Amino acid sequence: MLVCSTIAEMRDFVRDQKVGGRQVGFVPTMGYLHQGHMALVERARRECGAVVASIFVNPLQFGPSEDLAVYPRDFERDRALLERYGADALFYPAVEEMYPRGFCTQVEVGGPAGCLCGKSRPGHFRGVATVVAKLFNIVQPDRAYFGQKDAQQVLVIKRMVEDLNLPLEVVTVATVRESDGLAMSSRNVYLSREQRAMAPSLYRSLKAAARAASGGERDPRRLEGMVRENIAALPGAGIDYVEIRSLPDLGETDRLTAPSLLALAVRFGKTRLIDNIILGE
Ligand code: PAJ
Repeated sequence: MLVCSTIAEMRDFVRDQKVGGRQVGFVPTMGYLHQGHMALVERARRECGAVVASIFVNPLQFGPSEDLAVYPRDFERDRALLERYGADALFYPAVEEMYPRGFCTQVEVGGPAGCLCGKSRPGHFRGVATVVAKLFNIVQPDRAYFGQKDAQQVLVIKRMVEDLNLPLEVVTVATVRESDGLAMSSRNVYLSREQRAMAPSLYRSLKAAARAASGGERDPRRLEGMVRENIAALPGAGIDYVEIRSLPDLGETDRLTAPSLLALAVRFGKTRLIDNIILGE
């Protein structure tokens, strides 16, 4: 696996792939890889002639009081994992390579970026859209792979790709979970033993609401209330949001008439976990 730390090296690799007639699949990440990330790599490996992953902890998408400085990192382990899963190249740029002096252009997506995490993390999706647009321009993938774990992120990226006519397909991959249901996340390492033991309740609550929805409950406020009640019973858990929104625009809904997103963000101490489920599929 080729490791490229400069944009020029990455572009050379991609040029060779295109000359060789290979389609390029791309998996952008912030590293500290787990089985959720590897599911994206595996899917890309199956569908594309060449697989490029990136590891870049993007300062633009972290708020001033967030965990940028302590975001977990383990480059050697990540490199070995990507190699084992058959990635052909890894883009691993320094912050100065991505944001040199004078950098001052950002991508602002409206619509689906305004609610949920967009509301509790102002500027977050501007940072995500900006770095992903840059990465797409550098790697020029035919397909890019994103996890349903970050449901709003995929919808924002899809919107950007459509609105800016970016010539690639965005592929969504199902959330990979621990055996107890907790969605895999690089941030799970921050959880204390007690918090880790409570965390699977998030997905259990989402599933209970999904069962109530398939059982005929059509009132989004009642379903949100059920989830909130379950989470409020967990000592030390703070609800950031629990919301049902329409798909794919993440608009407000008063009645479940079509598949909708039930999404939550919950804080355990300093650690903020997100998860979601689609209702009425
Ligand atoms: P990161 O959190 O490292 O996630 C990289 C990709 O892995 C995202 O598409 C995310 O949805 C996916 N992923 C994470 N956990 C997953 C799980 N349990 N199951 C399935 N997929 C999972 O998301 C980012 O990085 C950044 O915002 C990025 C897109 C790289 C831009 O900086």
